[in-house]
Amino acid sequence: MMNVVLLGAPGAGKGTQAATLTKQLGVAHVASGDLFRRALSEQTELGLLAKSYMEKGELVPDEVTIDMVLERIRQPDCAAGVLFDGFPRTLSQAKALDERLAGEGKTIDKAIYIEVPEEALVKRLSGRWICRDCQTPYHEVSSPPKVPGRCDVCGGELYQRADDTEETVRERLKVFFSQTLPIIDYYENQGKLLRVDGDRDIDEVSSSISRLLQTERA
Ligand code: AP5
Ligand code: MG
Ligand code: ZN
Repeated sequence: MMNVVLLGAPGAGKGTQAATLTKQLGVAHVASGDLFRRALSEQTELGLLAKSYMEKGELVPDEVTIDMVLERIRQPDCAAGVLFDGFPRTLSQAKALDERLAGEGKTIDKAIYIEVPEEALVKRLSGRWICRDCQTPYHEVSSPPKVPGRCDVCGGELYQRADDTEETVRERLKVFFSQTLPIIDYYENQGKLLRVDGDRDIDEVSSSISRLLQTERA
């Protein structure tokens, strides 16, 4: 049973690393951005509300985001542990999550911070394609799909996110540095933070994360 938070700027590789890490840990993948995009494709009220923030690169208000994620982790697949991706992103979100887990006698075990320099992030996001059905991320250069335009995992259609334009990416980065960086300290102060150099090949980053978690668990 392990609850892990993946932290990192937009494009740091949270979704990419989550794909292998959830299998290794045997936990559910809970990605707030994926949940908002799913809601949007289903045209729910939540999706339409989230859209107005996402397209500007701003954070969706805490209350809505917290309710959505805390509701999601009630589902049975989360009983064996969760890998959180993109949540928490503000101090209030981190505290709300801790309170909820504490109420169930659980806790966040580790927070993994994937560090990548800003210029690399912009390049990654401008070449990203994601699956319309399962949201697996690909990259034109560093991680192309086997069949162009199709997802390796489920065969779904690949598309480019509307918030991956350079202008919106710059705004998302600003928001990350002002609103999300404080939670790095929050987990560091709890002795839970593991830092990983994310500016390397996808496989090298994955092995570093596994090694770090193994050392910590041993
Ligand atoms: P969200 O979907 O969470 O986006 P994000 O945090 O901006 O992160 P990304 O998904 O863009 O990056 P990633 O780290 O997953 O990178 P990936 O693995 O895809 O959030 C979107 C929006 O939703 C927010 O702006 C906000 O509006 C809202 N939202 C979501 N959560 C919220 C919350 N908690 N509170 C409030 N609002 C919230 O990789 C990127 C690319 O790089 C891919 O092409 C990949 O193939 C490639 N790549 C990955 N690793 C490597 C590597 N090592 N080397 C080379 N290329 C690589
Ligand atoms: Mg992602
Ligand atoms: Zn897919």
